[in-house]
This record gives sequence, C-alpha cells and structure tokens, in this order.
Amino acid sequence: MAKKGKTIFVCQECGYESPQWMGQCICGAWNSFVEEKIVPADTNPAARGGAFGDRPAAKPAHLKMVGTADYDRIDTGIGELNRVLGGGLVKGSLVLISGEPGIGKSTIIIQTAAGIAAEGRTVLYVSGEESEEQIKLRADRVCSSIPESLYVLSETNFENVEAACDNLKPNFLVIDSIQTLYSSQLDSAPGSVSQVRMCGNLLMKLAKTRDIPIFIVAHVTKSGDLAGPKTVEHLVDCVLNFTGERDQELRILRSYKNRFGTTSEIGAFRMEAEGLKEVRDISATFLERSEEMSEGSVTAAIYEGSRPVMFEIQALVSPANVGFARRTSVGIDNQRLSMILAVMEKIVGLQLINQDVYINVVGGLRPEGTGTDLAVALAVYSSYKRAVPKKRTLAVGEVGLTGDLRAVQNTDKIVKEAARLGYEQIIMPVRNAGKIGRQVDGCRIVGVKNIQEAFYAFTS
Ligand code: TYD
Ligand code: MG
Repeated sequence: MAKKGKTIFVCQECGYESPQWMGQCICGAWNSFVEEKIVPADTNPAARGGAFGDRPAAKPAHLKMVGTADYDRIDTGIGELNRVLGGGLVKGSLVLISGEPGIGKSTIIIQTAAGIAAEGRTVLYVSGEESEEQIKLRADRVCSSIPESLYVLSETNFENVEAACDNLKPNFLVIDSIQTLYSSQLDSAPGSVSQVRMCGNLLMKLAKTRDIPIFIVAHVTKSGDLAGPKTVEHLVDCVLNFTGERDQELRILRSYKNRFGTTSEIGAFRMEAEGLKEVRDISATFLERSEEMSEGSVTAAIYEGSRPVMFEIQALVSPANVGFARRTSVGIDNQRLSMILAVMEKIVGLQLINQDVYINVVGGLRPEGTGTDLAVALAVYSSYKRAVPKKRTLAVGEVGLTGDLRAVQNTDKIVKEAARLGYEQIIMPVRNAGKIGRQVDGCRIVGVKNIQEAFYAFTS
C-alpha cells in the first residue's frame, strides 16, 4: 500500500498500484493507469463509515427482519422521466445523467427542477458551467413559470455546495456537471479521474445521510466513454443516458442501471424552441411517410419496456464496383447484418457477394435485440429483387443460421398497435402467429416457418 498524502497511479483493470505512471501494467493492459491521491483517513469519506455516515461498530441484521417499505418517490412533473426512473424519483437516490455536450441535459434538468419545485419542494440547482443569469435565461425559455422554491448557485467547490445544502436544506439537488466540481481535499484539477471519483463519493454520502435525491450531469463523448464518469457509475443508483442526433429533434432517455426499477423503459422527448416536450405516443414516432410503400423499406417493431415502437428499416443493394462488396449499416449491428446476408446467400441462394449492402434505421433509433432480423432480411430482399409488397407490411422475427425463424416476445401487443396504425399484414414466426390467430382488427397475421416462406409472403 502507498503512503498517505502521496499521489499514486492505479490500474483500472487490475487495481495494481504504482508510484509512477506506466504505459503498460503488469497485467498487460495499456493506458490503464489513473492518478489517485491518498487522502488522510480523517478527511476521507470512505474511511469514515463510507457513504452511510459515521457508525460505531457494524452489527449485521437478519435479512428477514430488514424493513422493505416501498420507496418514497417524488413526482418529477415529467411523465417520461418518471417512467424511466421506475415511477418517480426515489428519495436519497443518486442519479447520473450522461450525454454528449449540447444534447439537452441542462434543459431536462431545469425542467425537472422546476417541476419538483412547483410542488412546493425546495430545489437547489448547482451549476459549474453557467452563470446564474444564463440559467435564468434558459428557465424563462423552457418553464411555464419559475417556482418560488427553486434556487440556483453557480459554484464548483464541493465543500461550498455542502455548506449551501446545510443552509438551504433542499429536497432535491442538481449538480451540473460533475466534471466541473472539485473537492478541496485533492490537489488535482476538476474533471480529473480522482476528482470525479472523490466528488461522486462525497455526493453519495450527502444523498444517503440527508436523504436528498441528487441528479448529477456528466458529459460523455460520442463513443460513450470518458474516463471520469465511468468511475462513478458503480456507486450511483441510476445511470440515465440521453441520446439523439443534434440536428434532429427527437431525444431518447434510457436507463442503463436502475436499483429501483427496470432498465428496459425508454423516455422520448422532442427538443423544441420552448424546451423538451414529452412524446407519449411513441409507437409511430419513428415512422416517416410509412403509408407509401417503396422498394427496400420494411417496417419493424420492438417492444421497449412497456410500449411497442415501430420504425422503418431501409436497405439499398447495388452492384459493387471494385474489390470487396461493402456492408454498411446505421442502427443495426454490422455483425448481425453479415449473418443475415450469409443466411440469404447460403440458404436462399441469393447472389449478394458482388453487391454493396447499405442499411439504415430511419429516425436515428438503435434498436436492440434480434427481433428486427426478419425486417432487415426483407428490406434487403425488397431492394435486391426490386419488389414492393402489395399491402402495408410489418415484419418481426429472429433469423437463425439455418434460415428458420425464431419466436420473439410480446408480438400480441405489437400486433394490436400495428393494427391501430393501419398495417394490413404482419409477417412473423409461426410459433408467434399460432398464439394470435389469423386476423386482428383487420390486420392479417402471416405465420412463416423460415426466411424463404417470409420472402414468398412478402411479395405475394
Ligand atoms: P443543453 O440543455 O444546454 O445541453 P447540455 O446541457 O446537454 O450540454 O441544450 C443545448 C441545445 O439545445 C442547444 O444547442 C439549443 C437547444 N435548445 C433548444 O432547441 N430549445 C430549448 O428550449 C433549449 C433550452 C435548448
Ligand atoms: Mg449543460
């Protein structure tokens, strides 16, 4: 162990401690060292009873006897955010909200802060990024009215924030952003890994000991990582990620970790001139001119949390000019696409080897799971054969390596929603179709065993 009051370097992969920075660790990892300051025990929160305050001797409790009262939740005033959090903000919870700069984190946070303050709760918005005037300008733009109990503080020092909390005793605290916050206990600059980690720990202690829910904003890069915020993900209760294309107005809020709810719910918003507006009817949000049927376009559906979401998958197949054919996909995993194309070549006998294949999920959505396989295969088929279906068609199903179709979950709910949106037929695996029947609200259900049958059903 290194001595107190010194700076050491710790490998993020294996935890090895070194007195100096090394390019490669003894465990073989490259560039894995981060600087860490050894804090004297009397100022180190971890050494003072950790995040849960100073406790004398720890006494184990019978798990059976531990109270399981329902979490006390606060309504944030934003339905989509409540949903992603699992039904509202849990008291004393620490929530990390990450996203690229400019995506709208400060906007959703000021709207949340105003929503909570509107219920008469005291809210403290701490910003290290903007002045109080700038925050006011944004609040004027996005909040219908600014509640009395909403306070702002432009501050970057953690100890000052803590003192402000002692005076104000807020019911909700916002830190915008963790990269601008620093603790005087460390010499390193705000935003450094050791500062981010230290402030994360201190905020955790603040949340748990005073029962204040805290929202922490963290900037991440497009690839989704930045050494700092990743190091606090394990200690916060919820990690929310805010994504979207900056030139499009749709924003998706997704939770990657939630100690008080599921991680499968998504929240949808539109960034408008007066801030973020909730998108409640999400199922058709991603569909653009879906009434017109065109070559290479097939509607797919996935079930997100508790709602079906439909979106258009477009494919373009065109003869390759030189060398290897290209396989480019936006929104669909490239390896998954290669697999589907291989099945189409080998099992169905389509000559795709000398064809460039481009796939795009319209609307900037990145659907997860394998339920979109069939729609991708049909879109490629449609573009390659220049075939357009006669009916408005939706397709769901997972494609196996043998060309057979595997059942996907929640198809009954997808069918209901598709029928509501006016789809005339849905192609799906027989195993799903068997449970649903041949027709639902005027929408024909076509059950197919394998990918060949699906192609046949698509064009007939
Ligand atoms: P912001 O919340 O400041 O982003 P972040 O905190 O994630 O960096 O939002 C920045 C962008 O959002 C900015 O480019 C302008 C746009 N915007 C709107 O379109 N409408 C609005 O009402 C607001 C406040 C911002
Ligand atoms: Mg901001």
